[in-house]
Amino acid sequence: MSQTSPTIRVDQPGGAEAMHLVDLQVGEPGPGEIRIRHHACGLNFIDVYQRAGVYALPMPLSLGMEGAGVVEAVGEGVTHLKAGDRAAYASNPPGSYCSLRVMPAKTVVRLPDSIAFETGAAMMLKGLTAQYLLKKTLPQGGLQAGDFVLFHAAAGGVGLIACQWAKALGLQLIGTAGSDEKCALAREHGAAFTINYRSEDFAARVREITGGAGVKVVYDSIGKDTWDKSLDCLRPFGLMVSFGNASGVVPPFAIGTLGAKGSLYVTRPTLFTHIATREATQAMAEDLFAVVTSGKVSIRIGQRYALKDVAQAHRDLEARETTGCSVLLP
Ligand SMILES: NC(=O)c1ccc[n+]([C@@H]2O[C@H](COP(=O)([O-])OP(=O)(O)OC[C@H]3O[C@@H](n4cnc5c(N)ncnc54)[C@H](OP(=O)(O)O)[C@@H]3O)[C@@H](O)[C@H]2O)c1
Repeated sequence: MSQTSPTIRVDQPGGAEAMHLVDLQVGEPGPGEIRIRHHACGLNFIDVYQRAGVYALPMPLSLGMEGAGVVEAVGEGVTHLKAGDRAAYASNPPGSYCSLRVMPAKTVVRLPDSIAFETGAAMMLKGLTAQYLLKKTLPQGGLQAGDFVLFHAAAGGVGLIACQWAKALGLQLIGTAGSDEKCALAREHGAAFTINYRSEDFAARVREITGGAGVKVVYDSIGKDTWDKSLDCLRPFGLMVSFGNASGVVPPFAIGTLGAKGSLYVTRPTLFTHIATREATQAMAEDLFAVVTSGKVSIRIGQRYALKDVAQAHRDLEARETTGCSVLLP
């Protein structure tokens, strides 16, 4: 039996106005697939890159990579989920900005009863990202309690989760943010130090905070605007983790710079390599659920929008007006 679902689509890359609501037919799940009815959908900066064509994808495109809801039906070969299960995911292909969809089951996990649907929708992509950054994307010799790390956009979706998780790991997270209010929010969520990088020279402040030594790792999702100065924040042999480009993509750079600045390491990771298998996704999700249910990390939903108001949600995210996570309600 075929049903229809309101779904946000883009026909051509463009601004927030390029998104529109259409009714799409949703059929039965095929082998390895499920059909899920969303209670909430997550909003992520990657949705902006995909909408705008920074990450080029075939058009027309259904947007959205994160959601939570109830499994309605499972296809052949799906054994880890059944109809009626509460579930959540961060997943390719895009298409979570909708009420109902058929999608691959591989990266969908059961959501513990103690975690609300909105929280599940808000935290899967951002929380699994904080997980692989702080636990798997590490400098030579790893990170020990007391170590300094620099984390940009600390009051954002990934940022507020990372502040709390870093604290739980005993790290001293230095968080940057674009206003004094956002800096205060990051400190309330566990950042040991904050820097308003719109009004302060963050590299100079990092040197000051670390007694001239620099940090072992920089987690940089800002890209173009922060790249050069982020390298200046690192200790010798430090690791530059470039995991996003909210201000624009990092331009090509001379590799010799890494030698001159102290034999630095650089990586450009994405969550989707980390959640390439069901086993890896399940293990990372269990780690995330454990830290959230323990109360060490709470998921702050700073904004809620009706699905039809998705353009406003994108405008707010791009204008740096959001804090924490945002959800869309179908
Ligand atoms: N590679 C991966 O696996 C992966 C996975 C998830 C997310 N990410 C990246 O992580 C970052 C955070 O994602 P999120 O969804 O949680 O978003 P977010 O942090 O809630 O929003 C982005 C933040 O970036 C800051 N920013 C600085 N310059 C900006 C500019 N020119 N335009 C817009 N924002 C700017 C703003 O905070 P301030 O005002 O405080 O500067 C803004 O709130 C994004 O870059 C995203 O692409 C990467």
